[in-house]
Amino acid sequence: MFCTIVIVIAILYLIILCISDCDLELFLLEKFGKSPSHLKGKVVFITGASSGIGEYTAYALARFGVKLVLTARRINELERVKQKCLELSKGQLKNDDVYVLSMDVTDFSSHENYFLQAVNHFGTVDILLNNAGRSQRAAWETIELAVDKQLFDLNVFAVINLSRIAIKYFNRVGKGHVAVVSSLAGVVGAPLSGTYTGSKHAIHGYFDSLRYEKLNKNLHITLLCPGPTFTNFLKDCFTNKEGKTLNSSVRPTDRRMTAERCGYLNAVALANQTRESWMSVRPLILLTYGMVYYPNFSYWLFKILGPERVFKLRDGREEYETHKD
Ligand SMILES: NC(=O)c1ccc[n+]([C@@H]2O[C@H](COP(=O)([O-])OP(=O)(O)OC[C@H]3O[C@@H](n4cnc5c(N)ncnc54)[C@H](OP(=O)(O)O)[C@@H]3O)[C@@H](O)[C@H]2O)c1
Repeated sequence: MFCTIVIVIAILYLIILCISDCDLELFLLEKFGKSPSHLKGKVVFITGASSGIGEYTAYALARFGVKLVLTARRINELERVKQKCLELSKGQLKNDDVYVLSMDVTDFSSHENYFLQAVNHFGTVDILLNNAGRSQRAAWETIELAVDKQLFDLNVFAVINLSRIAIKYFNRVGKGHVAVVSSLAGVVGAPLSGTYTGSKHAIHGYFDSLRYEKLNKNLHITLLCPGPTFTNFLKDCFTNKEGKTLNSSVRPTDRRMTAERCGYLNAVALANQTRESWMSVRPLILLTYGMVYYPNFSYWLFKILGPERVFKLRDGREEYETHKD
């Protein structure tokens, strides 16, 4: 009897992972957990809100009346996102409830000033969502060290510095929530993105360490891990050379999650204060489970499949593009 129950649960588990576009916990929370409406009236500070995942997470939250601090470098884009947030909120948000700040996150010395501006404007900040970041396409051994340093400044040190400021504030007020848009490349290795993969893994190391310092301290930490998503990220994508961007774009035929779906799942994860949430088109969630829980099996499976198939899965494309230079 016990064996039958275990087998049935295992089969159900496998079926959910095969049909779901997110991990099992998030799959169940989306159906039975707290809706993002639980965040209504809270203040969420988002970096990189001018496009892509940050933009669509802002929309998903605005629909439920969540107050927003939208930050990035392109102020015109932020104003566009703000107007759409006000529209989508259907009157729940007034003009002052969406606060726009032009902020370059690599200017570390400005972080405290910007965070305090948001606190002064709203009287508080409840959630910091670190989303600003750039990706990379480059063969591992050709990457210039200057690229490693710049990518870490943006994807890691900017996140850590701003989060430390937020956490000191949360310590003072007795509660808070820090979230980071990491990536499935923060959970498993992604080929042709050595520095990017390293930067997202570093995020997990930093925040998993913090998590255990803050047990029972009313500080929540959420690592959001999207797989391939339809955004414009390939344009400013780092390469192997300092100052050289990929200047490419995703194609409609790519297999990627929409930024809208990703933004909504982010909002569900934030409302439920998950520790780590994965979201991606099939079959990457199933493969990620395999790679995390059965690493030897997965390694041999990928060896048999060959690098071309791994690259295709990583980029969500049918044809395998070789890396130039
Ligand atoms: N797209 C994917 O497939 C995917 C998958 C997994 C994880 N992610 C992660 O999702 C996050 C957002 O990426 P995305 O795909 O949405 O790309 P995106 O559309 O290019 O968005 C990147 C955002 O970061 C901001 N940003 C970049 N450099 C900045 C800086 N120095 N200071 C302030 N803001 C800066 C950009 O705003 P400005 O240019 O206006 O400053 C923009 O709002 C990144 O952390 C990325 O690693 C993306």
